[in-house]
Amino acid sequence: MKMKVHFQVFKHLFALLTILIQIGEGIMVKHNNYEDSWLTKLIKDLPVQKQIRWRQTEKCKCGLTHKTNHSERIVGGFVSKNGAWPWMGAIVYMRDSTPKIVCGTSIINRRYLISAAHCGEYLKTQGMDKFQVFLGTNDLNDKDAVVPELEAIIMHPKYDTKTKVYDVALLKLKTPLKYSARVSPICISPQSGAPYKDKEAIVVGWGSLMFGGVATTMQMQTMVNVTSNKICAEKYLKSEEPVQITPMMMCASAPGSDSCQGDSGSPLFLKRKGKSSAIFEQIGIVSFGSGCADQRYPGVYVRLGKVLSWIRTVTNDAVYCNMK
Ligand SMILES: *[C@@H]1O[C@H](CO)[C@@H](O)[C@H](O)[C@H]1NC(C)=O
Ligand SMILES: *[C@@H]1O[C@H](CO)[C@@H](O)[C@H](O)[C@H]1NC(C)=O
Repeated sequence: MKMKVHFQVFKHLFALLTILIQIGEGIMVKHNNYEDSWLTKLIKDLPVQKQIRWRQTEKCKCGLTHKTNHSERIVGGFVSKNGAWPWMGAIVYMRDSTPKIVCGTSIINRRYLISAAHCGEYLKTQGMDKFQVFLGTNDLNDKDAVVPELEAIIMHPKYDTKTKVYDVALLKLKTPLKYSARVSPICISPQSGAPYKDKEAIVVGWGSLMFGGVATTMQMQTMVNVTSNKICAEKYLKSEEPVQITPMMMCASAPGSDSCQGDSGSPLFLKRKGKSSAIFEQIGIVSFGSGCADQRYPGVYVRLGKVLSWIRTVTNDAVYCNMK
C-alpha cells in the first residue's frame, strides 16, 4: 500500500514537473527576458547534464585532425587545409558535371552523416538522385573525393519550417564508410546540457563568402563565439522577420565572420577541453541567420545536445567510435 501511495505521489510530481517544463518553454519563447523567470531558474537547476550512452562502440577515434597546422583561420574565414577536418562532407548538386554546393554535413559514424532538416527537405523535394555527397576533400573539384551512396534521409519529426525548430536530419549511407586519414567521424558531446556560452568554436563549410554571393569550391573555416541565447533571442525578436530563439538553438558570432548560404547543415565544433592532443566535438549544426556576418544578428545553430536522444534512437543500428 505504502509503495503504491509513494508511486502515485511521484507520478503526480512528475506530471506537474512536465507541465511546468512545458509552461516554461512557452514562456521562454514568448518573452525577451525569459532567462530571468523563476520557472526557468527552476528548470535550469535540474540535473540536465544527462549522459547519452551510445549503444555500440568500436575501437576507433573520433574528432581527430590529421593536420596540426590550423593557423589559417566562410565570411571572414580562410581556406582550410586538405585533411584538416576529415568529418566534413559537402552535399552537392551536379550541373553540367560541375558540383554546386547545396549544404554541408558531417560524419558521425560509418553509416550516418548529420545535416540540417531544411537541407534534407530540399533533397527530398528535388529528388535525392540529383545530389551527391563528397567526403574526404576540401575541394569540390577534387576527382578523388569519396562519394558514398545515400540510402535515406531521416528528418527530425518535430522539424518545423516556420519556427525552424529541430532543424536536424540524418543521412543514412547504403554501405559503411571506410575510415582513413581523409574520412573519419567527429565526436559528439555526450553531455546534453552543456551551455557553451562564450566558448570559441569553429564552423567549416563551402558556403557563399558573402550574402547573395557565389559559393566557393574550396572549404572555408572560421572561428565564432557562442553567445547567450537570451541576447540572441532579443535581437531576433526585433528583426524584420522576428524569429523565436528557443533552447533548442544556439547562437554564435564573431566580428566579420559567420556561416552563410550553402553552409547550412555544416557542423559547429570545438576542441575538447583539457585534452593535450586535439580532439574535436560537434556542438551545433548551421541552421539559419539574418544575412551573413550582419553584426546585428548572430548565426543560429541547432543545439546538438538537445537532439542527442533522437540521434541515438535513429542511429541505433550504427557503431560509434568511443566518444571518451
Ligand atoms: C602553417 O602553414 C602556413 C602555410 O602553409 C605557414 O605559413 C605557417 O608558418 C604554418 N604555421 C605553423 C605554426 O606551422
Ligand atoms: C571570442 O571571445 C574572446 C574573449 O572575449 C576573444 O578574445 C576572441 O577574440 C573571440 N573570438 C572571436 C572569433 O571573435
